[in-house]
Amino acid sequence: MRENFVPFELERIMSIWEYQVEYNLSESGVHPMTTDELLQGNPDLIQKLTQVELNYPQTNGSVELRENIAALYPGATREHIVATTGAAQANFTSILTALDPGDQIAVLLPNYMQIWGIAKNLQLDVRTFSLKEELGWGLDIDELNRTVTDKTRLIAVCNPNNPTGHIMSSEEMNAVIAAADKVGAWLLADEVYAGAEHNTDSVTPSFYGRYDKVLAMGSLSKAYGLPGLRIGWVATTQDMAEEIWARQDYVTICTTMLGNWLGAYALSPEVRPRILDRTRNHVRHGYNNFNKWCEENADLVSFIPPQAAAIGFVRYKRQFNSTQFVERLIQEKKVYVVPGDHFGLDHHLRISYGLSDTYVNEGLKLLKDLLLSVE
Ligand SMILES: Cc1ncc(COP(=O)(O)O)c(C=O)c1O
Repeated sequence: MRENFVPFELERIMSIWEYQVEYNLSESGVHPMTTDELLQGNPDLIQKLTQVELNYPQTNGSVELRENIAALYPGATREHIVATTGAAQANFTSILTALDPGDQIAVLLPNYMQIWGIAKNLQLDVRTFSLKEELGWGLDIDELNRTVTDKTRLIAVCNPNNPTGHIMSSEEMNAVIAAADKVGAWLLADEVYAGAEHNTDSVTPSFYGRYDKVLAMGSLSKAYGLPGLRIGWVATTQDMAEEIWARQDYVTICTTMLGNWLGAYALSPEVRPRILDRTRNHVRHGYNNFNKWCEENADLVSFIPPQAAAIGFVRYKRQFNSTQFVERLIQEKKVYVVPGDHFGLDHHLRISYGLSDTYVNEGLKLLKDLLLSVE
Protein backbone atom coordinates (compact mmCIF):
# COMPACT_ATOMS: atom_id res chain seq x y z
CA MET A 1 0.00 0.00 0.00
CA ARG A 2 1.44 3.42 -0.85
CA GLU A 3 2.61 5.26 2.19
CA ASN A 4 0.11 8.11 2.28
CA PHE A 5 -2.93 6.12 1.24
CA VAL A 6 -5.67 5.83 3.86
CA PRO A 7 -7.34 2.42 3.40
CA PHE A 8 -11.07 1.97 3.94
CA GLU A 9 -10.61 -0.26 7.00
CA LEU A 10 -14.26 -1.19 7.47
CA GLU A 11 -14.80 -2.49 3.95
CA ARG A 12 -11.41 -4.15 3.68
CA ILE A 13 -11.62 -6.04 6.97
CA MET A 14 -15.23 -6.93 6.25
CA SER A 15 -14.37 -8.38 2.87
CA ILE A 16 -11.65 -10.53 4.46
CA TRP A 17 -13.81 -11.96 7.25
CA GLU A 18 -17.47 -11.92 6.26
CA TYR A 19 -17.32 -15.31 4.54
CA GLN A 20 -14.69 -16.83 6.88
CA VAL A 21 -16.38 -16.54 10.26
CA GLU A 22 -19.30 -18.65 11.44
CA TYR A 23 -21.38 -15.73 12.68
CA ASN A 24 -21.15 -12.60 10.60
CA LEU A 25 -22.93 -9.85 12.50
CA SER A 26 -21.20 -7.06 10.61
CA GLU A 27 -23.76 -6.26 7.92
CA SER A 28 -25.85 -3.14 8.20
CA GLY A 29 -28.65 -4.19 5.89
CA VAL A 30 -31.31 -6.85 6.35
CA HIS A 31 -30.97 -10.39 5.08
CA PRO A 32 -30.79 -10.02 1.25
CA MET A 33 -33.54 -11.20 -1.07
CA THR A 34 -33.13 -13.83 -3.75
CA THR A 35 -34.13 -12.94 -7.31
CA ASP A 36 -36.99 -15.40 -6.93
CA GLU A 37 -38.29 -13.62 -3.82
CA LEU A 38 -38.05 -10.26 -5.58
CA LEU A 39 -40.03 -11.58 -8.55
CA GLN A 40 -42.31 -13.69 -6.29
CA GLY A 41 -41.65 -16.67 -8.53
CA ASN A 42 -43.78 -15.08 -11.27
CA PRO A 43 -43.08 -17.17 -14.42
CA ASP A 44 -43.83 -14.28 -16.82
CA LEU A 45 -41.36 -12.02 -15.07
CA ILE A 46 -38.73 -14.75 -14.87
CA GLN A 47 -39.17 -15.32 -18.61
CA LYS A 48 -38.82 -11.58 -19.27
CA LEU A 49 -35.73 -11.36 -17.09
CA THR A 50 -34.00 -14.16 -18.98
CA GLN A 51 -34.72 -12.37 -22.25
CA VAL A 52 -33.02 -9.14 -21.19
CA GLU A 53 -30.13 -8.44 -23.54
CA LEU A 54 -26.91 -8.17 -21.55
CA ASN A 55 -25.88 -4.96 -23.22
CA TYR A 56 -24.71 -1.71 -21.62
CA PRO A 57 -27.73 0.19 -20.33
CA GLN A 58 -27.96 3.94 -20.87
CA THR A 59 -24.88 4.97 -18.96
CA ASN A 60 -26.51 7.30 -16.43
CA GLY A 61 -29.23 4.69 -15.80
CA SER A 62 -32.17 3.46 -17.85
CA VAL A 63 -35.07 5.86 -18.27
CA GLU A 64 -37.36 3.59 -16.27
CA LEU A 65 -34.92 3.24 -13.39
CA ARG A 66 -34.24 6.97 -13.17
CA GLU A 67 -37.94 7.82 -13.41
CA ASN A 68 -38.74 5.46 -10.55
CA ILE A 69 -35.92 6.96 -8.50
CA ALA A 70 -36.98 10.54 -9.34
CA ALA A 71 -40.50 9.74 -8.11
CA LEU A 72 -39.03 9.39 -4.59
CA TYR A 73 -37.90 13.04 -4.55
CA PRO A 74 -40.57 15.75 -4.79
CA GLY A 75 -39.84 18.00 -7.76
CA ALA A 76 -37.18 15.73 -9.28
CA THR A 77 -37.20 14.44 -12.85
CA ARG A 78 -34.99 11.76 -14.34
CA GLU A 79 -32.53 14.51 -15.38
CA HIS A 80 -31.78 15.05 -11.69
CA ILE A 81 -30.69 11.44 -11.19
CA VAL A 82 -27.51 9.49 -11.96
CA ALA A 83 -27.65 5.73 -11.32
CA THR A 84 -24.34 4.52 -9.88
CA THR A 85 -22.65 1.32 -8.80
CA GLY A 86 -24.02 1.45 -5.28
CA ALA A 87 -24.10 4.51 -3.06
CA ALA A 88 -20.38 3.87 -2.62
CA GLN A 89 -19.75 5.10 -6.15
CA ALA A 90 -22.34 7.86 -5.80
CA ASN A 91 -20.41 9.18 -2.78
CA PHE A 92 -17.04 8.81 -4.48
CA THR A 93 -17.96 10.41 -7.78
CA SER A 94 -19.86 13.23 -6.08
CA ILE A 95 -16.89 14.19 -3.91
CA LEU A 96 -14.61 13.99 -6.93
CA THR A 97 -16.97 16.26 -8.83
CA ALA A 98 -17.79 18.85 -6.18
CA LEU A 99 -14.37 19.38 -4.61
CA ASP A 100 -10.76 20.12 -5.51
CA PRO A 101 -7.61 19.19 -3.53
CA GLY A 102 -7.21 21.48 -0.54
CA ASP A 103 -10.93 22.27 -0.29
CA GLN A 104 -12.47 22.17 3.15
CA ILE A 105 -15.07 19.52 3.95
CA ALA A 106 -17.06 19.05 7.18
CA VAL A 107 -17.96 15.42 7.92
CA LEU A 108 -20.41 14.12 10.50
CA LEU A 109 -19.12 11.53 13.00
CA PRO A 110 -19.67 8.76 13.90
CA ASN A 111 -20.08 7.65 10.31
CA TYR A 112 -19.49 5.07 7.65
CA MET A 113 -16.00 6.40 7.00
CA GLN A 114 -16.06 6.31 3.22
CA ILE A 115 -16.36 10.04 2.65
CA TRP A 116 -13.87 10.78 5.40
CA GLY A 117 -11.33 8.40 3.77
CA ILE A 118 -11.96 9.70 0.24
CA ALA A 119 -11.48 13.23 1.54
CA LYS A 120 -8.18 12.32 3.23
CA ASN A 121 -6.94 10.60 0.09
CA LEU A 122 -7.90 13.55 -2.10
CA GLN A 123 -5.97 15.81 0.29
CA LEU A 124 -9.00 17.78 1.30
CA ASP A 125 -8.98 19.73 4.53
CA VAL A 126 -11.20 17.47 6.68
CA ARG A 127 -13.08 18.88 9.69
CA THR A 128 -15.56 16.89 11.76
CA PHE A 129 -18.66 17.51 13.87
CA SER A 130 -20.68 14.94 15.79
CA LEU A 131 -23.74 13.18 16.95
CA LYS A 132 -23.24 12.92 20.70
CA GLU A 133 -24.03 9.90 22.82
CA GLU A 134 -24.91 12.17 25.76
CA LEU A 135 -27.55 13.80 23.52
CA GLY A 136 -29.07 10.38 22.73
CA TRP A 137 -27.04 10.50 19.48
CA GLY A 138 -28.50 13.92 18.72
CA LEU A 139 -26.56 16.46 16.65
CA ASP A 140 -24.30 18.87 18.50
CA ILE A 141 -25.51 21.95 16.62
CA ASP A 142 -23.02 24.31 18.30
CA GLU A 143 -20.16 22.10 17.21
CA LEU A 144 -21.57 22.00 13.66
CA ASN A 145 -21.66 25.79 13.59
CA ARG A 146 -18.11 26.06 14.94
CA THR A 147 -16.83 23.52 12.39
CA VAL A 148 -18.34 25.05 9.27
CA THR A 149 -16.34 28.07 8.14
CA ASP A 150 -16.39 30.44 5.17
CA LYS A 151 -14.01 28.03 3.47
CA THR A 152 -16.23 24.93 3.84
CA ARG A 153 -17.19 23.70 0.37
CA LEU A 154 -19.20 20.63 1.37
CA ILE A 155 -20.94 19.28 4.47
CA ALA A 156 -21.41 15.50 4.55
CA VAL A 157 -24.06 13.85 6.74
CA CYS A 158 -25.51 10.37 6.94
CA ASN A 159 -29.21 10.30 7.79
CA PRO A 160 -30.53 7.92 9.08
CA ASN A 161 -27.11 7.51 10.56
CA ASN A 162 -24.79 4.55 10.28
CA PRO A 163 -23.79 3.35 12.90
CA THR A 164 -26.11 4.92 15.52
CA GLY A 165 -29.45 4.59 13.69
CA HIS A 166 -30.25 8.21 14.65
CA ILE A 167 -32.78 10.05 12.46
CA MET A 168 -32.37 13.81 12.47
CA SER A 169 -35.25 15.91 13.82
CA SER A 170 -36.49 18.80 11.67
CA GLU A 171 -34.57 21.12 13.95
CA GLU A 172 -31.35 19.21 13.28
CA MET A 173 -32.01 19.10 9.53
CA ASN A 174 -32.69 22.84 9.49
CA ALA A 175 -29.47 23.50 11.39
CA VAL A 176 -27.47 21.53 8.80
CA ILE A 177 -29.17 23.36 5.93
CA ALA A 178 -28.62 26.74 7.60
CA ALA A 179 -24.93 25.95 8.14
CA ALA A 180 -24.52 25.01 4.46
CA ASP A 181 -26.55 27.95 3.23
CA LYS A 182 -24.60 30.46 5.30
CA VAL A 183 -21.39 29.64 3.41
CA GLY A 184 -22.86 28.36 0.11
CA ALA A 185 -21.54 24.82 0.67
CA TRP A 186 -22.82 21.68 -0.99
CA LEU A 187 -24.73 19.38 1.31
CA LEU A 188 -24.09 15.69 0.71
CA ALA A 189 -26.72 13.57 2.47
CA ASP A 190 -26.13 9.83 2.48
CA GLU A 191 -29.68 8.54 2.96
CA VAL A 192 -29.23 4.84 2.21
CA TYR A 193 -31.06 3.75 5.38
CA ALA A 194 -34.20 5.76 4.60
CA GLY A 195 -37.01 3.19 4.44
CA ALA A 196 -35.63 1.03 7.28
CA GLU A 197 -37.31 2.94 10.14
CA HIS A 198 -38.23 1.31 13.45
CA ASN A 199 -41.05 3.44 14.80
CA THR A 200 -42.83 4.76 11.76
CA ASP A 201 -43.94 3.60 8.32
CA SER A 202 -43.03 7.01 6.89
CA VAL A 203 -39.76 7.07 5.01
CA THR A 204 -37.24 9.49 6.56
CA PRO A 205 -37.51 12.78 4.64
CA SER A 206 -34.71 13.57 2.21
CA PHE A 207 -32.63 16.73 2.25
CA TYR A 208 -33.35 16.88 -1.48
CA GLY A 209 -35.53 19.89 -2.35
CA ARG A 210 -34.89 21.70 0.96
CA TYR A 211 -31.84 23.58 -0.25
CA ASP A 212 -30.54 24.28 -3.73
CA LYS A 213 -27.12 22.57 -3.42
CA VAL A 214 -27.98 19.06 -2.24
CA LEU A 215 -26.44 15.75 -3.28
CA ALA A 216 -28.83 13.08 -1.94
CA MET A 217 -27.50 9.51 -2.02
CA GLY A 218 -29.74 6.47 -2.18
CA SER A 219 -29.25 2.75 -2.74
CA LEU A 220 -31.02 -0.57 -3.11
CA SER A 221 -28.50 -2.16 -0.74
CA LYS A 222 -29.87 -1.41 2.72
CA ALA A 223 -33.55 -0.49 2.91
CA TYR A 224 -34.35 -2.75 -0.06
CA GLY A 225 -32.23 -5.78 0.85
CA LEU A 226 -30.68 -5.93 -2.65
CA PRO A 227 -26.97 -5.14 -2.15
CA GLY A 228 -25.82 -7.54 -4.85
CA LEU A 229 -27.62 -5.57 -7.56
CA ARG A 230 -25.10 -2.78 -6.94
CA ILE A 231 -27.59 -0.06 -7.76
CA GLY A 232 -27.25 3.28 -6.02
CA TRP A 233 -27.91 6.82 -7.14
CA VAL A 234 -27.47 10.49 -6.55
CA ALA A 235 -30.33 12.98 -6.78
CA THR A 236 -29.11 16.53 -7.33
CA THR A 237 -29.36 19.55 -9.61
CA GLN A 238 -29.47 18.86 -13.33
CA ASP A 239 -26.10 20.55 -13.83
CA MET A 240 -24.47 18.55 -11.07
CA ALA A 241 -26.02 15.33 -12.39
CA GLU A 242 -24.40 16.07 -15.79
CA GLU A 243 -21.04 16.72 -14.14
CA ILE A 244 -21.19 13.51 -12.10
CA TRP A 245 -22.23 11.50 -15.14
CA ALA A 246 -19.23 12.92 -17.06
CA ARG A 247 -16.88 11.60 -14.37
CA GLN A 248 -18.67 8.27 -14.18
CA ASP A 249 -17.75 7.75 -17.85
CA TYR A 250 -14.16 7.33 -16.64
CA VAL A 251 -14.87 5.13 -13.62
CA THR A 252 -17.44 2.42 -14.33
CA ILE A 253 -19.09 3.75 -17.53
CA CYS A 254 -22.40 2.51 -16.15
CA THR A 255 -24.20 0.04 -13.93
CA THR A 256 -25.34 -3.34 -15.27
CA MET A 257 -28.33 -4.05 -17.50
CA LEU A 258 -29.75 -6.63 -15.05
CA GLY A 259 -29.26 -4.18 -12.18
CA ASN A 260 -31.21 -1.54 -14.12
CA TRP A 261 -33.98 -3.96 -15.00
CA LEU A 262 -34.41 -5.45 -11.53
CA GLY A 263 -33.81 -2.09 -9.86
CA ALA A 264 -36.54 -0.40 -11.88
CA TYR A 265 -38.83 -3.29 -10.96
CA ALA A 266 -38.00 -3.06 -7.24
CA LEU A 267 -38.64 0.70 -7.21
CA SER A 268 -41.90 0.54 -9.15
CA PRO A 269 -44.90 1.82 -7.16
CA GLU A 270 -46.48 -1.67 -7.14
CA VAL A 271 -43.42 -3.45 -5.72
CA ARG A 272 -41.59 -0.94 -3.52
CA PRO A 273 -44.09 -0.99 -0.60
CA ARG A 274 -43.81 -4.81 -0.36
CA ILE A 275 -40.01 -4.59 -0.15
CA LEU A 276 -40.03 -1.84 2.47
CA ASP A 277 -42.54 -3.85 4.53
CA ARG A 278 -40.21 -6.83 4.42
CA THR A 279 -37.28 -4.67 5.53
CA ARG A 280 -39.18 -3.10 8.41
CA ASN A 281 -40.38 -6.49 9.58
CA HIS A 282 -36.79 -7.71 9.70
CA VAL A 283 -35.57 -4.54 11.39
CA ARG A 284 -38.31 -4.46 14.04
CA HIS A 285 -38.34 -8.13 14.81
CA GLY A 286 -34.53 -8.21 14.94
CA TYR A 287 -34.47 -5.19 17.22
CA ASN A 288 -36.77 -6.79 19.80
CA ASN A 289 -34.58 -9.85 19.94
CA PHE A 290 -31.38 -7.81 20.17
CA ASN A 291 -32.76 -5.39 22.73
CA LYS A 292 -33.63 -8.30 25.01
CA TRP A 293 -29.99 -9.39 24.91
CA CYS A 294 -28.85 -5.85 25.72
CA GLU A 295 -31.25 -5.62 28.66
CA GLU A 296 -30.10 -8.98 30.00
CA ASN A 297 -26.49 -7.84 29.71
CA ALA A 298 -26.83 -4.30 31.00
CA ASP A 299 -23.76 -4.89 33.21
CA LEU A 300 -21.67 -5.40 30.05
CA VAL A 301 -23.15 -3.07 27.45
CA SER A 302 -25.25 0.07 27.16
CA PHE A 303 -27.26 1.01 24.16
CA ILE A 304 -29.30 3.93 22.85
CA PRO A 305 -32.14 2.48 20.77
CA PRO A 306 -31.69 3.21 17.06
CA GLN A 307 -34.53 4.78 15.06
CA ALA A 308 -33.55 3.07 11.81
CA ALA A 309 -31.44 0.27 10.28
CA ALA A 310 -30.77 -3.26 11.51
CA ILE A 311 -27.76 -2.32 13.61
CA GLY A 312 -27.11 -1.69 17.28
CA PHE A 313 -24.21 0.55 18.23
CA VAL A 314 -23.41 -0.58 21.76
CA ARG A 315 -20.92 0.81 24.22
CA TYR A 316 -19.15 -1.86 26.22
CA LYS A 317 -18.31 -1.21 29.84
CA ARG A 318 -14.66 -2.16 29.61
CA GLN A 319 -11.49 -0.25 28.71
CA PHE A 320 -10.04 -2.39 25.89
CA ASN A 321 -9.72 -1.19 22.30
CA SER A 322 -12.55 -2.17 19.95
CA THR A 323 -10.33 -3.30 17.04
CA GLN A 324 -8.22 -5.53 19.29
CA PHE A 325 -11.35 -7.01 20.82
CA VAL A 326 -12.84 -7.81 17.41
CA GLU A 327 -9.59 -9.43 16.28
CA ARG A 328 -9.85 -11.80 19.24
CA LEU A 329 -13.56 -12.33 18.62
CA ILE A 330 -12.82 -13.45 15.06
CA GLN A 331 -9.89 -15.70 16.01
CA GLU A 332 -11.29 -17.24 19.18
CA LYS A 333 -15.05 -17.29 18.57
CA LYS A 334 -15.42 -17.06 14.78
CA VAL A 335 -17.79 -14.13 15.22
CA TYR A 336 -17.42 -10.83 13.41
CA VAL A 337 -18.92 -7.49 14.46
CA VAL A 338 -17.58 -4.08 13.45
CA PRO A 339 -15.30 -2.27 15.91
CA GLY A 340 -16.29 1.29 16.86
CA ASP A 341 -12.85 2.42 15.62
CA HIS A 342 -14.12 1.92 12.08
CA PHE A 343 -16.69 4.66 12.63
CA GLY A 344 -14.31 7.02 14.39
CA LEU A 345 -15.52 6.06 17.91
CA ASP A 346 -13.70 3.49 20.06
CA HIS A 347 -15.29 1.50 22.95
CA HIS A 348 -18.29 0.63 20.81
CA LEU A 349 -19.28 -2.32 18.66
CA ARG A 350 -21.73 -2.24 15.77
CA ILE A 351 -23.80 -5.40 15.80
CA SER A 352 -26.29 -6.35 13.11
CA TYR A 353 -29.59 -7.97 13.93
CA GLY A 354 -31.38 -8.04 10.56
CA LEU A 355 -30.75 -11.81 10.33
CA SER A 356 -32.48 -14.87 11.82
CA ASP A 357 -32.87 -14.91 15.64
CA THR A 358 -31.06 -18.23 16.02
CA TYR A 359 -28.07 -16.99 14.07
CA VAL A 360 -27.91 -13.64 15.88
CA ASN A 361 -28.40 -15.24 19.32
CA GLU A 362 -25.65 -17.78 18.80
CA GLY A 363 -23.27 -15.00 17.71
CA LEU A 364 -24.28 -12.87 20.71
CA LYS A 365 -23.72 -15.75 23.10
CA LEU A 366 -20.14 -16.15 21.87
CA LEU A 367 -19.60 -12.40 21.94
CA LYS A 368 -20.75 -12.33 25.55
CA ASP A 369 -18.36 -15.17 26.48
CA LEU A 370 -15.44 -13.12 25.22
CA LEU A 371 -16.69 -9.88 26.80
CA LEU A 372 -16.81 -11.69 30.14
CA SER A 373 -13.29 -13.00 29.77
CA VAL A 374 -11.50 -9.70 29.02
CA GLU A 375 -10.84 -6.71 31.22
C1 LIG B 1 -23.89 5.00 4.98
C2 LIG B 1 -23.50 4.12 3.84
N1 LIG B 1 -23.37 4.67 2.62
C3 LIG B 1 -23.04 3.92 1.56
C4 LIG B 1 -22.82 2.57 1.68
C5 LIG B 1 -22.46 1.78 0.46
O1 LIG B 1 -23.64 1.23 -0.03
P1 LIG B 1 -23.80 0.54 -1.46
O2 LIG B 1 -23.90 -0.93 -1.22
O3 LIG B 1 -25.06 1.11 -2.00
O4 LIG B 1 -22.60 0.91 -2.27
C6 LIG B 1 -22.93 1.95 2.93
C7 LIG B 1 -22.65 0.52 3.10
O5 LIG B 1 -22.56 -0.02 4.18
C8 LIG B 1 -23.29 2.75 4.04
O6 LIG B 1 -23.46 2.23 5.25
